[in-house]
Amino acid sequence: MLRITGVSPQLNESNLYKIYSYLVIITVASSLCYALYSMFTDTKNENENIENFTAGVSLLFGSLKAIIQLYDLKSAQLFTMLFAAIYTEFLTTYWGSELVKEYLAIGDCYYDIDFVGIDIRLQRSLRFMIQQTQKPIQFSVGGFSPLTMRTFLLECDFTGKRYTFDDIRLKSRNFNTNLRKKLDLRKGDVIAILLPNVADYPICVFGAFQAGLIVTTINPYYTSEEISRQIIDANVKAIVTLSSLYDITQKALKDVKMSIPILTVKTKTSNVTPEGGVDLNEFTQTNLEVNDTVDIHAEDVALLLYSGGTTGLPKGAEHTHHSIIANICQINNENLQYYPSRSEIYENRQLAILPWFHGFGIVFVLFSQLRLLTKIICAPKFTPKSFLDMLIKHNPTGLHLVPPLISFLATNPSVKREFLQSISTVVYGGAPLNTVDLHTFVNKINKKINLVEVYGLTETMVSCITAPSSNAKGELGTLQLVPNTCIKIVSPENYNVGLNANEIGEILIKGPQLMKGYCNRPSETKNAFFNKWFKTGDLGYYDENGSVYLTSRLKDMIKVNSFQVAPVELEEIIRRYKDVADVAVIGIPDKQYGEVPLAIVVSAPNAKLNITDLQKFVSNKVANYKQLRGGVIILDSLPKSATGKILRKDLLLMYKNNTF
Ligand SMILES: *[C@@H]1O[C@H](CO)[C@@H](O)[C@H](O)[C@H]1NC(C)=O
Ligand SMILES: *[C@@H]1O[C@H](CO)[C@@H](O)[C@H](O)[C@H]1NC(C)=O
Ligand SMILES: *[C@@H]1O[C@H](CO)[C@@H](O)[C@H](O)[C@H]1NC(C)=O
Ligand SMILES: *[C@@H]1O[C@H](CO)[C@@H](O)[C@H](O)[C@H]1NC(C)=O
Repeated sequence: MLRITGVSPQLNESNLYKIYSYLVIITVASSLCYALYSMFTDTKNENENIENFTAGVSLLFGSLKAIIQLYDLKSAQLFTMLFAAIYTEFLTTYWGSELVKEYLAIGDCYYDIDFVGIDIRLQRSLRFMIQQTQKPIQFSVGGFSPLTMRTFLLECDFTGKRYTFDDIRLKSRNFNTNLRKKLDLRKGDVIAILLPNVADYPICVFGAFQAGLIVTTINPYYTSEEISRQIIDANVKAIVTLSSLYDITQKALKDVKMSIPILTVKTKTSNVTPEGGVDLNEFTQTNLEVNDTVDIHAEDVALLLYSGGTTGLPKGAEHTHHSIIANICQINNENLQYYPSRSEIYENRQLAILPWFHGFGIVFVLFSQLRLLTKIICAPKFTPKSFLDMLIKHNPTGLHLVPPLISFLATNPSVKREFLQSISTVVYGGAPLNTVDLHTFVNKINKKINLVEVYGLTETMVSCITAPSSNAKGELGTLQLVPNTCIKIVSPENYNVGLNANEIGEILIKGPQLMKGYCNRPSETKNAFFNKWFKTGDLGYYDENGSVYLTSRLKDMIKVNSFQVAPVELEEIIRRYKDVADVAVIGIPDKQYGEVPLAIVVSAPNAKLNITDLQKFVSNKVANYKQLRGGVIILDSLPKSATGKILRKDLLLMYKNNTF
């Protein structure tokens, strides 16, 4: 179960009363503000004015905060609201510029009563973010210095390529101009990237961003049918893939009678460009003369990430330059620095094994780690042997994983303790990690590391992350909201009804990192949001102390005699049974009860699972209606998504077709 600290207060009379008092304070404070502005600024240099003004405001608020604490006010809330109100008031009054509008767009959250978890320290990063928005490449690999120019930042054994920061910068600029000149691609056109994690990946993405294009990422393990579906859905105008994937790409296009340019990346084992394809190098080696004024705005869509979702066919979640950069700022904010800074004598090395076609991989690992000047070692595919070889060869300092990979590291005997000693930070998300694996892993590594859990969906990016202070003992910490993000818990039947402490409801999220909507699907977009809150479909509750607990997916709920049974709850119990390695619980139809839970288990190596005994074990621990009336089935392995989520719908299908 995930636990998140911070909860949104509901709007009630006492809150309203507080707001009236704030208004009074705001009036007084804005006068103060004007005085400050005059004190700290004198030229017409807007940027410097902002810089000085921000410094001034911090000063003022430093003292205000002290006063607030003295009087034991709910400081964070009061403080943030006050700050936001003054800032906005000030900006609207004294600057009529574009900048103000962008501030306001970000500050949007502030005017909501339900905010919490807003960290005012992010103000600076957010401002930075806006200024950089037009040049995403400089945002992600912007820290140029002699050090970064000559250090290799991307290494890829699979394609044999190594790039420095400067290579990434120049090659992506070239890719940008080549795309526009040779293929006549225009702002808003979609380019598909059908690649595993290879060194050319960021060059393609950043080049396309600079050209004003939208990038959609396709899973390289897709069938041609799945590729066709996404190409049609996203209206793709060009595609980049591996030379070894040329044939399947060509088939996908032919099946839907499309003909678009296919650029190919050579690898060590497939080092010729297929007939009909164009070598990517031809697009990245030279710069071409083009009119370089592509007008890119913060709210333009940049990434189209296909979200599997738990129901329906994949939909393209539209992320703007703004939402992406906002998320990078949020997860790299100064409170959450899990990595030491890079210097002449220290480098972080990340073994990038999570796929970059996925939102977690591309934003949280690729963009964000490049920004931290981390050296990225591309791991295009997972095999136990290649993973081990890379661990030994590259001594990574950080890993981003999904729970099945942590269990692999924890339980596989060929993974020796000494292979893990360089690691200082392990970040994981995508699915809950069971405590048995966690403890085995911590024991195996046997040294202090940062173990960081994150929570988010493709639509919400990473919205919660482990608080650094809470995992000091190498145990599971609690999650906290990333800055400028709010969560609230409402009744799934009526979103206007906020729930009280300890009542289970649906979790809604709001923040600048949310997707804009689903591509070409207005009604699904409308359904996905309630006002500006994204409906996660996850269920949870908060306690008296303001911590939020995630309990399960709404859609996965099993209804037994109209009582809701959360599969994760049963799974957690079953996992504790001695002979079980992994488990999934699904609801199957039943004449008497409507639905009953069925457990599909993978037994531990060399164990002889006694089903009767397992059922007895469970029935001792849960209410009558939650018992495993659907029975227990033993399988060799469970179907899982790229991020390690159990694919319950596949299990249901197997059940329906009787193919267990
Ligand atoms: C901002 O502050 C610096 C240092 O205090 C000062 O030198 C500079 O003139 C100020 N700029 C403006 C525009 O007031
Ligand atoms: C470049 O494009 C801009 C905007 O479309 C236009 O105003 C400008 O004249 C163009 N410059 C050249 C050299 O074509
Ligand atoms: C709330 O916090 C108090 C004090 O830290 C603690 O004793 C109590 O157990 C907490 N309640 C819950 C539900 O976590
Ligand atoms: C399985 O467990 C049941 C209940 O605990 C027990 O009665 C039975 O003897 C066990 N069967 C085997 C083969 O161990």
